[in-house]
Amino acid sequence: MKVDVLLGLQWGDEGKGKIVDVLTPKYNVIARFQGGPNAGHTLEFNGIKHVLHTIPSGIFHDGVANVVGNGVVVDPVILKKEIDALIKLGVNIKKQLFISKKAHLILPTHRLIDAASEAAKGKEKIGSTLKGIGPTYMDKTGRNGLRVGDVFETTFKEKYTKLVIKHKEILKFHDFEYDLEALEKDFFIALETIKNLTIIDSEHYLNNAINNNKSILAEGAQGAMLDVDFGSYPFVTSSNTTTAGTCTGLGIAPNKIGKVFGIFKAYCTRVGSGPFPTELEDEVGERMRKAGNEFGSTTGRPRRCGWIDLPALKYAIMINGVTELIMMKADVLSEFETIAVCTHYIIDGKKIDYMPYDIVSKEVTPVYETLKGWRQDLTKLASMDEIPSELSAYIDYLEKTLNVPISIVSVGPDRTQTIHRGNVLV
Ligand code: GDP
Ligand code: IMO
Ligand code: MG
Repeated sequence: MKVDVLLGLQWGDEGKGKIVDVLTPKYNVIARFQGGPNAGHTLEFNGIKHVLHTIPSGIFHDGVANVVGNGVVVDPVILKKEIDALIKLGVNIKKQLFISKKAHLILPTHRLIDAASEAAKGKEKIGSTLKGIGPTYMDKTGRNGLRVGDVFETTFKEKYTKLVIKHKEILKFHDFEYDLEALEKDFFIALETIKNLTIIDSEHYLNNAINNNKSILAEGAQGAMLDVDFGSYPFVTSSNTTTAGTCTGLGIAPNKIGKVFGIFKAYCTRVGSGPFPTELEDEVGERMRKAGNEFGSTTGRPRRCGWIDLPALKYAIMINGVTELIMMKADVLSEFETIAVCTHYIIDGKKIDYMPYDIVSKEVTPVYETLKGWRQDLTKLASMDEIPSELSAYIDYLEKTLNVPISIVSVGPDRTQTIHRGNVLV
């Protein structure tokens, strides 16, 4: 069977965690392929609200394998915390969670370097989650990194010490003060937990699953506009968040990719620095933040809010090969009399409908079309038959403009607040 992919089309936090949890009953395996604990994926069901950072969002379903792939960067300290919380909720971690030997480790000094490098950038800072993501991927591509499989080797401590000596030089360069001792203590305690997990050759595991007709869903982290190649560079994360990242991050060949579910909010948010053409830095944006409870799941930072951005969405659909769309947080737009949709940008006096190379350096003025709002509570709706005609018109408008069907409309954070449209997503 082919591997389906679910990924964010905007700047992250689209609601990936919720929808992966909703779709998990259709799959045997859920696999994360990139990013690390910079992600915060929220699931809500039976009155429980749970945020996952490293562990795939299928973990609450018995009998489903959750794989952390080679493309992910793992912080043992954060992973241990996630595991401890899940064990308390009765999850059988040993049986349901599988970690790739090839996933790279985030060391305490990676986190320190992240903080030092952001501090040195001053006003130009990326707005990193400070989880050590960038420095860990730098060591991976620089061929200095340590991997999960290394922790079983007798030479691990030696390799660790060698790398930390290098890191200390970088910290000295940044003139950055730190106290490594306490951080290292937690790190080595957490490594003992890691050693007791089910550590696998994930590329073999997943390809065997494919050959045995098992269904796999790859769960993206972050969003297309944060992709290191295609996002608003340098205000991006350090991995490929796009469909291509599934192949390298899991060891799955491109011809094994099936459906690609592109998930987006009915509006836009961004946390951290960088361009955001439709950002509303006014009372309307404030209302959106409040109605959508737009505060970061990982850092608690207020998210920047704005109207939906079609040039950015079209770009994300193109680079990901999206086959089906999933629209989240439609209920939040019930707040507004009218809904604006950005159809074009004006840059250097020219009207364009695509994402330009110089989005970071140029002044971008969004061009809007206005649609009528619905001003009706959507959170209790169960089927498409019950939705207001104005929401229907909004969905039709988006499908026509984006040229991809919308298979799910989400109307609240809970698992049950999910409207499936027709039979597209079977
Ligand atoms: P992810 O990183 O893509 O998994 O998304 P996050 O979990 O960081 O952020 C999405 C937030 O929106 C979470 O707090 C979810 O509980 C919440 N959420 C998801 N879907 C909906 C929805 O349809 N309506 C509302 N109001 N909240 C939602
Ligand atoms: P999920 O998976 C939203 C943003 C940070 C910062 C930039 C780089 O929950 O959607 P990094 O820590 O990766 O060096 O930060 O990327 N960022 C996210 N924004 N959701 C995320 O993940 C994010 N992960 C990173 O805010 O702007
Ligand atoms: Mg998130």
